[in-house]
Amino acid sequence: NNFVLIMAGGVGSRFWPKSRNDFPKQFLDILGIGKSLLQLTYERFLKLCPAKNIFIVTNSQYQDIILQQLEGISPDQIICEPSRNNTAPCIAYASFKVNSLNPDANIVVAPSDHFILYEDIFIEKIRQALAFTDKNEALLTLGITPTRPDTGYGYIKYETDEAGGVHKVTEFKEKPSASKAREFLSEGNYVWNAGIFIWKVSSILKALKQHSVEIYNIFEAGNNLYNTVNERAFIDTHYPNCPNISIDYAIMERAENVYTIPAEFGWSDLGTWASLYEAANKNEENNVIAASQIDIRETTNSIIHINGEKLAVIRGLDDFIIVDEGNALLIYPKSNEQEIKEVVKNMGLIH
Ligand code: GDD
Ligand code: MG
Repeated sequence: NNFVLIMAGGVGSRFWPKSRNDFPKQFLDILGIGKSLLQLTYERFLKLCPAKNIFIVTNSQYQDIILQQLEGISPDQIICEPSRNNTAPCIAYASFKVNSLNPDANIVVAPSDHFILYEDIFIEKIRQALAFTDKNEALLTLGITPTRPDTGYGYIKYETDEAGGVHKVTEFKEKPSASKAREFLSEGNYVWNAGIFIWKVSSILKALKQHSVEIYNIFEAGNNLYNTVNERAFIDTHYPNCPNISIDYAIMERAENVYTIPAEFGWSDLGTWASLYEAANKNEENNVIAASQIDIRETTNSIIHINGEKLAVIRGLDDFIIVDEGNALLIYPKSNEQEIKEVVKNMGLIH
């Protein structure tokens, strides 16, 4: 009774201009290895449970891309949202659906845009987590040792006491300010939230009822409709009424029964240009360069992606993101990259 929910409905605005509304980053072969991040994620979870227990939760708009990318996937495995309301409604909807299939289900919720190097260790950690949440009413997340005061992550403070590698969480802070993030890092005993959650379906439904009752009530009203012919009409009418909020703010910051397993499995979030920069091999000047023709001097700590045959001449930059892609050119200080989301949103480029 293990189920996996892969969240693949984000627009990846911090990865603009490579990530676009109609083809977000999870569907791109960002690593240049012939597979998209979604394909890698799906294949990874096939090591945990049969394909029929893996669901892709996404916006209706991406259904065709997913059918194309995941060979042999059944349309029943794709859970479609009619509007963009962030991860709390996404997880709530999918959880009600799973609950109607199997109220005893264990669920793993995972993003679709991460890279994991050591898949066997990863699967082992997931099994360890499932063994815990199966017996305890716990909301468990995998924790990653932080390497920089990145403001794009959730920070988790945990108790040093542990049982079988599982630690109680004393504080969950989503996307802190830069000064807070630096404080957390120097304090120690903090891990990043990997965005991979493990819990029983009953535990997440209870947490939603307690901490996010508005969302809970919307989906609870359709309880006898899930996995029937009437589900679509119900969801299309009511899903868009959900508040727009991520699971991190809606549940994880508020719940008391949060646990973490700090784990190292070669995790990289490929969600932003700086995280791709961190994960990639750097040259002597600490640059990450993908360009067919480039003349670059006195430039350091930067990530440069020039698509196609265009000749790029770059001089005298430090800590920059330079991306030339299609009809767009991005030149932005790397340390301000979290702003890119707002900028592209305000310009109406991604919505
Ligand atoms: N189905 C669906 N619907 N998926 C969504 C939606 C939605 O409305 N919004 C986002 N997603 C998907 C994204 O495609 C991604 O795979 C995943 O959900 C997480 O969303 P992000 O937008 O990438 O979240 P984040 O990176 O800002 O923060 C989360 O992940 C961090 C680790 O990478 C949080 O959980 C942080 O606490 C965490 O540190
Ligand atoms: Mg992300």
